[in-house]
Amino acid sequence: MDFDRDRRRKPFKIKVVQPIKWNTREERAKIMEAAGYCFGFVRAEDIPINLTTDSGTSAMSMAQWSALMDADEAYFNRKNFYDFEKAVKDFTGMKYVLPTHQGRAAEHIVCAVLIKHKGAVIPANAHFGTTEIHAMRYGARPINLPIEEAFDTQKIHPFKGNIDINKFEELISNKGAENIPFLNMVMTNNFMAGQPVSMANLKEAAEIAHEHGIKVVIDAARLPENAYFIKERESGYKNKSIREICREACSYADVVHMSCKKCALVNMGGFIATNDKDLYMEMGALLVQFEGYLTYGGLTGRDLAAIAVGLNEGLDYDYLADRIGQVEYFAEQLRRRNVPIYEPPGGHAVYIDAEKAYPHIPKEQYPAEALGVEAYIEGGVAGLGHPSSLGWTRTDPETGKPVPCPFEFTRYAIPRRVYFDCQLEYAADVIAYAVEKGEKVKGFRIKWVPKNEFLKVFIYRLERIK
Ligand code: F0G
Repeated sequence: MDFDRDRRRKPFKIKVVQPIKWNTREERAKIMEAAGYCFGFVRAEDIPINLTTDSGTSAMSMAQWSALMDADEAYFNRKNFYDFEKAVKDFTGMKYVLPTHQGRAAEHIVCAVLIKHKGAVIPANAHFGTTEIHAMRYGARPINLPIEEAFDTQKIHPFKGNIDINKFEELISNKGAENIPFLNMVMTNNFMAGQPVSMANLKEAAEIAHEHGIKVVIDAARLPENAYFIKERESGYKNKSIREICREACSYADVVHMSCKKCALVNMGGFIATNDKDLYMEMGALLVQFEGYLTYGGLTGRDLAAIAVGLNEGLDYDYLADRIGQVEYFAEQLRRRNVPIYEPPGGHAVYIDAEKAYPHIPKEQYPAEALGVEAYIEGGVAGLGHPSSLGWTRTDPETGKPVPCPFEFTRYAIPRRVYFDCQLEYAADVIAYAVEKGEKVKGFRIKWVPKNEFLKVFIYRLERIK
């Protein structure tokens, strides 16, 4: 027996507990109906196993809580900024660092500075929703170029988050490099089932971009988890540390931004890092306008302190092995119960193919939301349609026609260091039961959606089709 490799040992134990309230099935059914079957309208205390997101939902460590108490709240240049700055520099290898209140604030500033003219196109392996909106706000067109294999939910491929290099080159020759201000590489690729990007793919795409004078931006929201997959799956990285892998990835970028709410194990925060002083100054001017002074950018001293510690904890190999191992464990529990999951599972979530789970519910009746709602009513386990037609059908700005969403996924994202493996086994039972109910589960029609189509990701009201 090799007990040294036994995942059940866990790299932490529990010191503070948060009680969970358990409503009855009947109460949950009423809550859902009153909320228009939208988790955006349900109170968090009514969701006992909350797998709607892994963002801002991590449990902090005792080292983070201690750092919080040691924080200073002066306006200019709190000591915690320098700890934060050092942690970000050590992580990215970059010289200049700006704190932001979360990831989308960083994206806003990056897009505002890099997109200089209307009619630009912004390619990515697949943008996260908020980046897409920022690009559009500045008159650019976001374009997703995932590899073909990523659309096959069953195909086993180590790096389904990769960008399609041929399509990227084609785009450059069709649109002209001068119309492509930057390439956005999202690691891991949340829109495509949380799949990782290989170092080889990032490097090749970045080289092509740079040859054409196109800047490279990394959305590092889950870069440490991506680095874990590189270490495990890509040749040449087995003996490199997670930190070395993250730094190599960042070395191919001109700008790195991160939502610290994921892999930096905090509840709020983000940053932008670059080696380009002019860019730093230009972005810094916007930071002061939208976020706060250069050394706090929308964060308290406490937030900065927690990130300074959490970013380093998030790079620990044992922590990551446990983290990714728990996602894989959950995936395995679902597989065993014949729930059709996206294979292989990504780093932060298991995505269920709701079209396969509920073949009787057409896309127009929202199978991904139907599964999310059913598992909540049956057992208090919440997952989101992500991506799914309801929130992710976009109007093409050129043709005015809807661009359909390629997937109907119910995403079950795992908060970091929060749930026990047995709670995830329970969640798998509940989800499998919701799937087995089959045709007893009906789809939905829209009762209300906001005018702004991006808000549909979060808020809508549905009614059951009888
Ligand atoms: N980039 C990626 C890849 C993300 O997944 C997110 C957020 C952001 C940027 C934006 O960061 O929330 O700090 O402003 N994803 C969350 C999710 C909301 O549930 O996947 P933020």
